[in-house]
Amino acid sequence: MMALLIRVSKQVQRKSFQNPLLYRLSSECSASRKGPESKEECKWMFGSSQEILAVVRGHVEVRQNFISEEEENVLFKEVETGLRKKRYEFDHWDDAIHGYRETERLQWGVTCESILRRVRAVAFPEDSPLLGPVHVLDLDKDGYIKPHIDSVKFCGSTIAGLSLLSDSVMRLTPENKSTDWVDLLLSRRSLYILRDDARFKFTHGILKDEESFFSGQKVPRHRRISVICRNLPV
Ligand code: OGA
Ligand code: MN
Repeated sequence: MMALLIRVSKQVQRKSFQNPLLYRLSSECSASRKGPESKEECKWMFGSSQEILAVVRGHVEVRQNFISEEEENVLFKEVETGLRKKRYEFDHWDDAIHGYRETERLQWGVTCESILRRVRAVAFPEDSPLLGPVHVLDLDKDGYIKPHIDSVKFCGSTIAGLSLLSDSVMRLTPENKSTDWVDLLLSRRSLYILRDDARFKFTHGILKDEESFFSGQKVPRHRRISVICRNLPV
């Protein structure tokens, strides 16, 4: 099921190979934004131009330290039991994801369930029907996610993910103009939310360790586990 979610995006992946560093223009993402969050935003969003930042702004959110270290531990222990039985997959060159194993989970212990309730409360509209099982993706240190768009057939307008064990950089690239990009710094224990245009009109991926830079700063990629909630298409 989960493999299906992203296999549909192959065409998108193919045209996205290029050197993004060539387009690393600086941008001050807080400058054009009013309100108390403006400074915060700069800590986690960096893009090739003001224009592209304006397009995703409001459709993208990263909440740093969304879970505590203790909660991260509890989540990790609970997902580890499902992951342990699987082997990391490396050699499917056609896949959007390299160096990973994954599982899904429907039933959670009390602590995890309450974390997931908080995720759902901030990420999804109250009446939005959700994809039942939560997706757990374990990326090896050498693993990465190529640019793709999640299946529009199986997933709705919103994708919300918790990042465990490692910081990482998620790159969004507009589907129709792939010289532009927006990088999101997904710090360990953060929650990211992709909505609407950011989810439908941009590809997203997680950079491999060698390419993992945010605003020119190296972001070492260790093993990373994401816990991803999605809603259903309407
Ligand atoms: C996916 C995906 C991102 C993440 O599995 O489709 O984009 O945070 N995952 O692991
Ligand atoms: Mn995805």
